[in-house]
Amino acid sequence: MKIAIVTGGAGGIGQETVRGLAKAGLRVVAACRDVKKATVGEAWTLDLARLSSVRTFAARALAELPRVDVLICNAAVWPGPRRKTADGFELAFGVNHLAHFFLVELLRERLVATPAARIVVVSSGLHARGVMRWDDLQLERRYDGAAAYARSKLANVLWTLALARRLAGTGVTANACHPGVVATGLLRHQPPGKWDKGPRLSPADGARPSLHLALSPALAAVTGRYFHRMDEKPPAPAALDRTAQDRLWSLSEQLIAPHRR
Ligand SMILES: NC(=O)c1ccc[n+]([C@@H]2O[C@H](COP(=O)([O-])OP(=O)(O)OC[C@H]3O[C@@H](n4cnc5c(N)ncnc54)[C@H](OP(=O)(O)O)[C@@H]3O)[C@@H](O)[C@H]2O)c1
Repeated sequence: MKIAIVTGGAGGIGQETVRGLAKAGLRVVAACRDVKKATVGEAWTLDLARLSSVRTFAARALAELPRVDVLICNAAVWPGPRRKTADGFELAFGVNHLAHFFLVELLRERLVATPAARIVVVSSGLHARGVMRWDDLQLERRYDGAAAYARSKLANVLWTLALARRLAGTGVTANACHPGVVATGLLRHQPPGKWDKGPRLSPADGARPSLHLALSPALAAVTGRYFHRMDEKPPAPAALDRTAQDRLWSLSEQLIAPHRR
């Protein structure tokens, strides 16, 4: 039986992604902070704001999951005031990017050992507004939650493209997507019309791009691409910058190194 992991699998788009994968016949692990919230799939604890929790989760996955066919990096936070993860990273960068980077590194051998495994990174169209600000990675000089979120979503696409290059020839694919503007908890503090025009999609509709990337036979060999909803589109020029992709990669490696143990 094929096995999938969905981060943030107990709410919003993630929960509907778990539901869709289970319906397609996969065994699905819903990785979530609060296992009591999960209503579909197997609920396993994962707090992405704590790299020790990522390590514990990955160790359990390596012990209990003989294969990982699909890994959906879906969880994210849109910060309000400036906050840090348990390890001292700016919250959006730490949760949305770095913890997923760490998770994939820890599960990498299992993914490679699984025939035609797929990694799906849920980014956002707002990646186009992101600026990496390499000289102020913790955003100490000026903090704006929306800018921190947009930067983390740019990091998602930079990382996906760097990852796809590094996984070339292994059979593992890595693609990123924008799920649409979806009525979930993520936008709860955002007034209607600020980021979107028209009605917000349902979470089930928001899960369609992730499910398409995870399951569509037509995409079995497609890697290193960005999908706006169901259509492949070029990402923002900033995401295509290979120097930035590689810079983010080496920086992320450095930042997780002390947490590997
Ligand atoms: N909604 C939109 O319009 C929209 C647009 C573009 C992109 N996206 C992307 O879609 C993805 C799903 O977002 P959503 O709209 O479904 O938002 P959501 O309802 O707020 O879901 C986010 C999920 O991430 C989890 N999460 C947050 N912090 C976490 C942590 N420290 N550890 C583990 N899990 C954590 C949340 O868990 P808790 O329930 O415990 O908080 C929740 O399950 C995100 O990557 C988001 O950037 C959404």
